[in-house]
Amino acid sequence: MKVTVLVGSQWGDEGKGKIVDILSANYDIVVRYQGGANAGHTVAIGDKQYILHLIPSGILREGVICVIGNGVVIDPTALLEEIELLEKHGISVEGRLFISHNAHLIMPYHKLLDSISESGGNKIGTTGRGIGPCYIDKYARKGIRIVDLLNRKILGEKIRENLKEKNNLLKKVYEHAELDVDSIIEQYEAFDDAIDKYIKDVPAYLNAAITEGKSILLEGAQGALLDVDHGTYPFVTSSNPTSGGACTGTGIPPTKITDVFGIVKAYTTRVGNGPFPTELLDEVGEKLRTAGAEFGATTGRPRRCGWFDAFLVRYSSLINGTDTVAITKLDVLSHFQEIKVCTGYELNGKPLKSFPTDVEKLANVKPIYETLPGWNTDITKCGSYGELPEATKNYLSFIAKEAGLKPGIISVGPKRTQTFFVD
Ligand code: GDP
Ligand code: IMO
Ligand code: MG
Repeated sequence: MKVTVLVGSQWGDEGKGKIVDILSANYDIVVRYQGGANAGHTVAIGDKQYILHLIPSGILREGVICVIGNGVVIDPTALLEEIELLEKHGISVEGRLFISHNAHLIMPYHKLLDSISESGGNKIGTTGRGIGPCYIDKYARKGIRIVDLLNRKILGEKIRENLKEKNNLLKKVYEHAELDVDSIIEQYEAFDDAIDKYIKDVPAYLNAAITEGKSILLEGAQGALLDVDHGTYPFVTSSNPTSGGACTGTGIPPTKITDVFGIVKAYTTRVGNGPFPTELLDEVGEKLRTAGAEFGATTGRPRRCGWFDAFLVRYSSLINGTDTVAITKLDVLSHFQEIKVCTGYELNGKPLKSFPTDVEKLANVKPIYETLPGWNTDITKCGSYGELPEATKNYLSFIAKEAGLKPGIISVGPKRTQTFFVD
């Protein structure tokens, strides 16, 4: 019996979707615990590619139950689109998908406020999915939750109350047209009709499943460095992707977690603004982007690319308590004669002892690099650790040592088959 937390160890897009799909063959239940449709988790099976935003990536494994926990902020439109898309591919979610009655709903004004606040100065470079404004309302205790859908009277009252304030803000502060309250109420009532069957008391369900000896995989979105508490604030998302968030976001107590599995890309990427010490703004970075097809799965934006940052991953492993990791996209590095790895930072000529999350400092650090020889061989068909070229094994050993990682899975391509376990 396992209750595993799976976390992104960098700035998101590490390949969590692919690895959740692989691991979920050995789990009964997969649960998303934070974030929302800002996530884009890709699973490639045969010649088909699925991009999941809200539904756990375990949905592609027949028989696996998928749950959206209370820590997730749910955009009804995005959820229904995703269910429809899966059904078009012959994947039924009926009886396999459950949603926490305590999860908060993304409302049309959240998306609007997200885009308005990003149109001014001090841009974060958000995904525009209304994530920040929805979590603001959650913590201001004004949010509308899934449970509110079950009582039309309360739902109507809450939406009216919220709209009063939001329309005031839109009109007086942003000089924007007001939103029509009746059509929003109608839209959310229709949503209730569509999702009633999925609503569940998730903490009770998951804790009972643990008692029965079921295995649960808790799927994080984003990554540790985007964590609102431990990431590169303010250039972060508005939730806790780090492993601690898995408990508050599902109702599973910390004493029931058995292990933490990290996902690490063999180099580094970031989408949106904020400091990125190993970023490559030259043709090497461009080559990483092209070889790795580094374009956002949610927004299509080009991802910023750079060398592997062992100093950053060591910090994220500390915060997450990572036991084992999957190292993904190793094949992308086959295109380079030499590969650099950042082993530490210098600030004003002095080496730093710990990772600075203060963005002013982080923007000014100088990465300390070690250069390793590349392997320049196609490794996408390697099916075991032993089949990898010596230079690839050396690279893996080096980053594992520098970042303090225990590799458990190696990924050498986007497909299910391009994956092997390390003993
Ligand atoms: P997530 O958000 O962490 O689930 O990651 P994304 O799905 O946003 O981005 C990862 C991208 O890399 C997707 O397009 C995957 O299909 C792809 N991918 C995953 N693992 C590998 C790998 O080992 N090699 C290559 N070349 N692509 C991979
Ligand atoms: P997955 O789960 C990469 C980034 C955005 C922006 C910041 C805040 O696919 O790894 P938000 O819309 O959350 O308010 O944006 O966070 N971001 C991601 N970057 N992968 C993600 O998810 C991300 N989700 C949000 O680009 O910089
Ligand atoms: Mg992604």
